[in-house]
Amino acid sequence: MNANPKDLYPDDIDTSTKVTDTTAMATETTLLNPRFYTTDFDEMDRIDVSSVRPEWDKLIAQMKSDPNKGHFKKNAEWDADWAGMDPKLRVEFIDFLVSSCTAEFSGCVLYKELKRRGNNPDICELFNYMARDEARHAGFINDALREAGVAVNLGFLTKAKKYTYFRPKFIYYATYLSEKIGYARYITIFRHLEAHPEQRFHPIFKWFREWCNDEFSHGEAFALLMRTDPKLTSGFANRLWIRFFLTAVYSTMYVRDHARPEFHKALGVDIEWYDQEVFRKTSTIARQVFPLEIDIDHPRWLPNLRRMRDAFGQMDAAKRKGGVGGWLTHKLGASKAAMAFVLLYTIPTIKRTPPKDVRLEPVY
Ligand SMILES: [Fe+2]
Ligand SMILES: [Fe+2]
Repeated sequence: MNANPKDLYPDDIDTSTKVTDTTAMATETTLLNPRFYTTDFDEMDRIDVSSVRPEWDKLIAQMKSDPNKGHFKKNAEWDADWAGMDPKLRVEFIDFLVSSCTAEFSGCVLYKELKRRGNNPDICELFNYMARDEARHAGFINDALREAGVAVNLGFLTKAKKYTYFRPKFIYYATYLSEKIGYARYITIFRHLEAHPEQRFHPIFKWFREWCNDEFSHGEAFALLMRTDPKLTSGFANRLWIRFFLTAVYSTMYVRDHARPEFHKALGVDIEWYDQEVFRKTSTIARQVFPLEIDIDHPRWLPNLRRMRDAFGQMDAAKRKGGVGGWLTHKLGASKAAMAFVLLYTIPTIKRTPPKDVRLEPVY
C-alpha cells in the first residue's frame, strides 16, 4: 500500500520539509555517519591484476551477466504500510533507510569516479559494474523512502557531502570491510525474518538475499585487488592499520545499531546478538585476506563496546543541552569513548594465514 505522506505526519508538519530534513541527515558528517571517499585515482588505476587473472575473469564475467538485473523492482509482494507503523519505529526505520541509502550511494560515487578517471580496462570494467549495482541499491531504498514522504536528494548529496581522502590501501581495507559487513548485515536480517516472517514489518527485507549477493561479489573484487600485491596486507604497520579498521568499523556499527532500539525490537532481534553475529560472519569471511582477526569473545570486547555506546549517548545528550555544562559533559563523553576504543584496540588479535585460493562463495 502506498501511503499518502500527508497521513503520516501531524498537520503542522509540512511534508516537503521532510525531504530537506532527510537530505540534511545524510549530508551531516559525524564520526558515525556513512562517509564519502576520495583517493589517489592514478595509483589505483595502475593496479595489475594479471597475478589473479583466472579468478578475476570469472568474477567479472559473473558481474557482467548481471544476475540481479530485474531484482530491484517492486512487485506484488511489495506491501508497505507506513501509515500503520508505530511512529517511533517509523522514525528509526527512516533513519536506518537514510543511513543505508547514503552508504550505498557513497559506494556508487566512489566507484563511478574510479571508472571515470581510469584508463586501465580491468579497473574501468570492474568499477562500472559495481557503480551500476550501488546506484540500483541506493535508488531502490530511496524509492521506499519516497512512499513515506521522504527521500534523500542524491544529486545534492554528491555536491554537499564532505569527502574523506583515503590512500588506496585504506580504501581497500575500508571498502572491503564495508562490502562484507553489508553482506553479513543483510543476510543475517534476511535469515532471521525467514524464520520469523511475522516480524517483517516492511517488504524491503524480502529483497535482501539477492541484494547481499551483490555486496558479497563487491567484497570479492576488493579481496582480489588486495591479493595482487601481498605487501598491502602484510608487515607490522599494515597489521596495525587492519586492526584499527576492524575495531573502528565494528564499534561504529555497535554504537549506531544501539541508537535504534525500536527498529530492532520490531524485527525481534537482540541488538547485541545481531551485532556479534554480523562480526562473526564478517571476521570468518575476512580470513580470505586479512592476516589477523579481532577476538570478539575476549572478556574486554563487549564491556568496552557498551562503554563506548554509553559515552556516545552522553555526548549526544550534552550536545542537546548546550552551554558550558553541555560542553564539559561532551568532552568527558569523548574521552570516555576514546578510552573505550583504546581498550578495544589493544585486545590481542588472533593470527590468521590467508589461504592460497582467495575466492569465496556466499554461503550464509
Ligand atoms: Fe550496495
Ligand atoms: Fe556494494
